[in-house]
Parts: sequence; C-alpha cells; structure tokens
Amino acid sequence: MDSKTPSLDFAIVGHSEDWKSIQKFINGIRTAELEPLPVDKIKEVFGFIPPREIFRITLRSKTGKEVTGVYIESFIDPDKLGVTYLRTNINKVKKAVILAAKLNAKRVALGGFTSILLEGNIDSFEEYDLKVTTGNTLTAAFIVKSVEKAVAESGQDLNSVKLLVIGATGDIGMACIQYFKGKVKKLILNARNKAKLENAEKELIEQGVNIALGNSLEDLIPEADVIISVASSNNIEIKNVREGVIICDAGYPKNLDLKFSDLKENLLFHGGMGKVSHGYWFRPDYSNFFYTYPDQFLAHGCVLEVIVLAFENVFENYSTGKGNITNKGIEEIYCWSLKHGVILAPFYNSRGLCNQGNNSNKK
Ligand SMILES: NC(=O)c1ccc[n+]([C@@H]2O[C@H](COP(=O)([O-])OP(=O)(O)OC[C@H]3O[C@@H](n4cnc5c(N)ncnc54)[C@H](OP(=O)(O)O)[C@@H]3O)[C@@H](O)[C@H]2O)c1
Repeated sequence: MDSKTPSLDFAIVGHSEDWKSIQKFINGIRTAELEPLPVDKIKEVFGFIPPREIFRITLRSKTGKEVTGVYIESFIDPDKLGVTYLRTNINKVKKAVILAAKLNAKRVALGGFTSILLEGNIDSFEEYDLKVTTGNTLTAAFIVKSVEKAVAESGQDLNSVKLLVIGATGDIGMACIQYFKGKVKKLILNARNKAKLENAEKELIEQGVNIALGNSLEDLIPEADVIISVASSNNIEIKNVREGVIICDAGYPKNLDLKFSDLKENLLFHGGMGKVSHGYWFRPDYSNFFYTYPDQFLAHGCVLEVIVLAFENVFENYSTGKGNITNKGIEEIYCWSLKHGVILAPFYNSRGLCNQGNNSNKK
C-alpha cells in the first residue's frame, strides 16, 4: 500500500448480472470510433480479465457528510457461477479485495455472489489494513422492513400471514426467519438440502414456532401469503400462488418476475434494495451504460452497508458470514442507515415502479 495515496472510505467488489448488461456497459465505455463488440467476442475474453477499478463514487448523507469509494469489477463470468468454477471465482474475489487494499480502501463490501464465494473466510485478509463485510445484514434489514411495509399496505396483519422463505438455510434466509419467527402466523421453509432444513426445523420447533418445510416449491407456494426468495439460484419458478400474494425477490441475479406472469393481482418487488436519498455521483460518469433502475439513487443493500459503515465511521468486519446476523444487528444497521438518509427503495420490479399500473396488491 502506498502511504502517499489518500485513503478511500470504501471499495465495492461486484460482478455483472448478465451478458446483455455487460455488452451495454463495455460498448458504452469504448470510444465512439470503435465498432460495437458483439456479445460472442466479449464472452471470449471477459472471464480472463483480472479484477480492476471501474469508477469512483461519492455519496452524501442526510447529515451532510460525504464518503468516496471505488467500484471494482471482479470479471466473474455470469455463465460460470456454479461449483465447477468455485476455485477460479474465489481467486478472483481474493484478487479484487487485495486490489481494494492497494487502492487504500478502508472497508470493502463483497457484493451479491462474491460474498457467497468467500463465506466465512474473511480472516484471510487480516494482513491488510482494511475491513471486509458481506453486506448481508443491511440486505436482510431492507428485506424484512420492506415485507412489513408491503403487508401493512395490503391491509393484512403480519400475525395472520403465512410466510414462505426460499433459501431458508442461507445467511440472509436464516436472518429473515429469526426476524419473523413469533411475528407471523406460520413460517414455511424451503431449500434443497433436507438435512439442513431439518436442523433449522428442530431448533424452531423447540422454540414453539409454527412451521412447515419441504424441498418442493410446488407444494409450499399455494399456502403462502408472502414469499421471500433469497436462494442463490436462477432456477426458481413461482406458480400457483394465492391471490394477492406478496413476493420479495431478493436474489441476485433477479429473474423471478420474468417467469412470473401473474403480476396484476399480486405484488412482486425487488427486495434488499435501498435508496440514498441525498444522492450519489460516479467518476467517470458511466451511469448511462449500467444504471437501469426505475428511480434515482437506488442500490443493493450489500453495497449500501459498507457506505453506511463509512458514514458512521465504523471500522470492523461487520457481516462476517453464514449464521451471524442477529435481530440486534438488523435494527442497528437499519437505524444508522435511516440516520444517513439511506431508506427503503420504492417497490419496483423489472417492469418499473409498482402501483403505477405495473403491479398492485388488492387484498
Ligand atoms: N439484494 C441484495 O443486496 C443482495 C445482497 C447480498 C446477497 N444477495 C443475494 O441473496 C441470495 C442469498 O444470499 P446468501 O448470502 O443468503 O446465500 P447463501 O448463504 O449461499 O444461501 C443460499 C440459500 O439458497 C438455497 N438454495 C440454493 N439454490 C436453491 C434452489 N434451487 N431452491 C431452493 N433453495 C435454494 C440454499 O440452500 P440449498 O443449497 O440447500 O438449496 C441456501 O439456503 C443470493 O442470490 C445473493 O446473490 C442479494
């Protein structure tokens, strides 16, 4: 690390969602004289590019404080997220964190899939003078608070609701279950690994929680009034829902609504998202080539967590891996977040903002 380089408040390590957005971004930042690259050409080289700095970001808190950080693209191939490529992808994330340290970033957020890759292994960065967070506590906070808001706006009582969590044994899924146990009428747990599900069941039954569980979504979905989807998978299919169902799609990449046609009578929104109400700015400003949200200043909870920590001047490994998110942590980070004007994103999905003719909930 160069001691003369001014330090950055944070770094974000991220990955791109799909080839369409990668192509738009790459062709956007190439000079106008160059021919646009076809996606096949991009696919040939993309995964071989080492992690690198793409742009800087400055964000303003409600208190007037400003923080500045860097976005580092990991160049993980979106077609290669499976276990076969685990070692390659872990190496990319490690290199990206080391680059963050070289850029003199004080904290680094592992966005989306990159946190899953390093789950529980952030100790390996102890030699660097930076703190690492998965960002999952603020993500979980935005999910649970937005679900509470959606339920209240639909006129239902939370304690009469049956809540299905898809990805119930994951870091964020477990946090949602801990938060909603005792608050909803019934918890319905779904994941693929039966043994892990049964472990979770045992603990919850001992605590007197009313639960059901299973591997088959087909059997579980019709019972649910509210669905939180936080599975690390793009193979989730939602069908045969109850009328008026509320669905919070908090997985990344998000694609539930593209497969879910019944949006008229139901609410499906992208969850785990927040809004920086006092704004943020990019340098260079490439936002035209990658910003696709239907409202200003939106971002993922995992990214916003490191920013809230920077606003608060907290220097610790905050969200550290599977099973460590507590209700106290959720309330703490959410409270800091609101203090700095980082609020829940409005309800939206890939068709735009909800309740503007795209989507309604009629209960
Ligand atoms: N909105 C945001 O800001 C934000 C931030 C961070 C993460 N995320 C996203 O949130 C999701 C969860 O993150 P995490 O850290 O909690 O991941 P995680 O700890 O790896 O948990 C994933 C969960 O999904 C389950 N799962 C995987 N494939 C499934 C399938 N086909 N059907 C049902 N369950 C399945 C896993 O259990 P089994 O393996 O047993 O099925 C596990 O319970 C990821 O998609 C991540 O990218 C979003």
